[in-house]
Amino acid sequence: MASIPTNMQLSSFLKTLRALKGKPYERGFSLPGAFYTDPLWTQTECSELFGKDWFCVGRVEEVAKPGDFFTFDHIGEPLLVVHGRDGVIRVLSNVCRHRGTVIAQGSGNTRKFLCPYHRWAYDTAGQLLNAPLLDSHEAFNMQECRLPELKCEFWQGFIFANFNPRAAAIGKQLGVLEKVIKNYHLEQMSLRYLADETWETNWKCLLENFMEGYHLTPLHRDTLHKVNPSRLCSHLAPGRRHFGYSVGFTSRVSKNRIGHPDLSADEGNTCIMFAVPPGLLVGVGSDYSSFLCIRPESADRVRVKLGLIFYGDHWSRQDVDSAIELFQHTMDEDKQVLLRVQQGLGSRFHEPGPLAPRDLEGTIWDFYQYLSRSLTTAKKSARN
Ligand code: FES
Ligand SMILES: [Fe+2]
Repeated sequence: MASIPTNMQLSSFLKTLRALKGKPYERGFSLPGAFYTDPLWTQTECSELFGKDWFCVGRVEEVAKPGDFFTFDHIGEPLLVVHGRDGVIRVLSNVCRHRGTVIAQGSGNTRKFLCPYHRWAYDTAGQLLNAPLLDSHEAFNMQECRLPELKCEFWQGFIFANFNPRAAAIGKQLGVLEKVIKNYHLEQMSLRYLADETWETNWKCLLENFMEGYHLTPLHRDTLHKVNPSRLCSHLAPGRRHFGYSVGFTSRVSKNRIGHPDLSADEGNTCIMFAVPPGLLVGVGSDYSSFLCIRPESADRVRVKLGLIFYGDHWSRQDVDSAIELFQHTMDEDKQVLLRVQQGLGSRFHEPGPLAPRDLEGTIWDFYQYLSRSLTTAKKSARN
């Protein structure tokens, strides 16, 4: 096998992705390490995927009440999610219209946003309320000044945003996935655990890890394997905007879960793992589900919002705590191994390796196909 130079130029990356089109899965190999370590390639992914595609920013429960807000950076862009006093949830630029200061920090509940520098004030819909001493400026109209608003959409309780105001609605593109998960009623589940972390790995490593069942048994032998082992994984047919797999529950945990009454017995005993790339990963269970919103910070660092959402109000504190503990423990195992993956991918001796049977790593191939579709056509057309 030819070794791949680590300093591949953009055209070489694109050539590798183009070569994936139409290639049979049975002949599939992982991507060269440079895809995970090259800073310039990460910049390309940031601008072409995270800068042009829909990205998930979190759950609506995070801004449940008017005035609730949280801030975050997305590929270097300071943003603000706020439940306006007018009842509308918006994703706004968090950059002051005066001289560019980042306005809000952290999260909370507020009546208005006050820029710390010269105290310009904005309401919770982003409209400028007050700009001290600027009433008489000849070329500035305060009424017309507001924080830029991103296109925003709500799907299954998740908040999606897009920099492109003409982007086609994401929900309409997820109809096939919706059929698979609709009886779980993710939109009725409520948030009981939220964490914000930085993982020292490439964003694709994290996505691939969450989305493949091959490692469930070997890596999570003392945790997830006892609940969702690799042998119960099945690949699901991918769509253009999603991919995923299902995994059954072991008999020791299959009986005790309470989910939505719409669920069939089979659905109740199956967990659906799906991705809406580039940034949303979800593990859907009947009783509770996990989700990750990911965004790259550099080639070897990814910011991740991790959450657990629960169905129903029958939960005792102890049961919620043990679900959280299992999740944290499992994620910690992933975090540790992904650090080692990232180290190995930079090795001069690393070469693409063969992918395991489709039920176990078919989703990785689906992800590569998404990358190939999105990045090799991105230059030709304005993507949604
Ligand atoms: S930069 Fe915000 S008030 Fe001046
Ligand atoms: Fe894992």
